[in-house]
Amino acid sequence: MNSRLTITLPDDCEAIALAGGPYSNFTAVAAFLRATEQLEHRFCLGDIGGFGPLPDRTIELIRGAGLACVQGNYDHAIGYGEDDCGCGYIDPMDRHYAQVSYDYTDQKTSAEHKAWLRQLPAQIVLLWRGQSLLLCHGSPDQVNEFVWESETTDATIAGWLRQRRVSGMCATHSGLPWIRTVANGGGFWFNAGVLGRPAHEDSTRVFYGIVDFPRGASVPVPRLVELAYDPAPVAEAMRTEGLPDVFVESLLRGRWTTCCNILPAVERIPRDRLAALRQTDFHGLPEQENDECLPPYPDPVRGALN
Ligand SMILES: [Fe+2]
Repeated sequence: MNSRLTITLPDDCEAIALAGGPYSNFTAVAAFLRATEQLEHRFCLGDIGGFGPLPDRTIELIRGAGLACVQGNYDHAIGYGEDDCGCGYIDPMDRHYAQVSYDYTDQKTSAEHKAWLRQLPAQIVLLWRGQSLLLCHGSPDQVNEFVWESETTDATIAGWLRQRRVSGMCATHSGLPWIRTVANGGGFWFNAGVLGRPAHEDSTRVFYGIVDFPRGASVPVPRLVELAYDPAPVAEAMRTEGLPDVFVESLLRGRWTTCCNILPAVERIPRDRLAALRQTDFHGLPEQENDECLPPYPDPVRGALN
């Protein structure tokens, strides 16, 4: 894994934009670039390919816009020609669909872009008017660590902030957006979500992150932004490229249909992620009424086992 890159932001920078996992979703990435074009400092948190079609299109958009990128597990795997994406899935069904996506993306990513993926830094530290932020992919410790809101204590976050001596940490790998601010100005954790697929909330919208640090403020503050975009061209390209129907279904339905058995019980419930940001008491959540991830598609894993 590559080293950490340090970037010093200019004193007059008052906000930065963060793109979580693009997953080859080229129309979402284009919409993000349009929505944030007024911001000079924009970053990508990794996993540029995977899930979606025609990976070079998305890489070219991101490279063309000059985003500074963290190397996600997917970028590392594609860049170095590894056997699988290194996503960290355990369930056989999750692993099956992850492999379908990975084999396609590996085959369709150009050698020149693979070389670019290889040289990306594992993490980026932003020095910003006396504060510092860590941009990582999974967790500060591990590129493919799933850091779930329902399973992560304030003490864990405070420990990471203390160890890394930063005011905030921004990540994307687990794919669902959430923010936790540590009490008494202790800093924040910010999963900026992903651009590549909806946030398991029965809506086609996706999310990106903004961190505001206006002049006169004492600390940077994270903010989640919803992004409406047109998934139809990506869905059409998925079909043309022969990617599974369940991938298209996820994009158009707004619910995770693959690689969702990794979700803890709380996150497995589809819900409005902006509304969820305002609710921090997980014990107060309703019982699981509708925790469906998978639509009634054939299960190739169990089918193969039977
Ligand atoms: Fe990842």
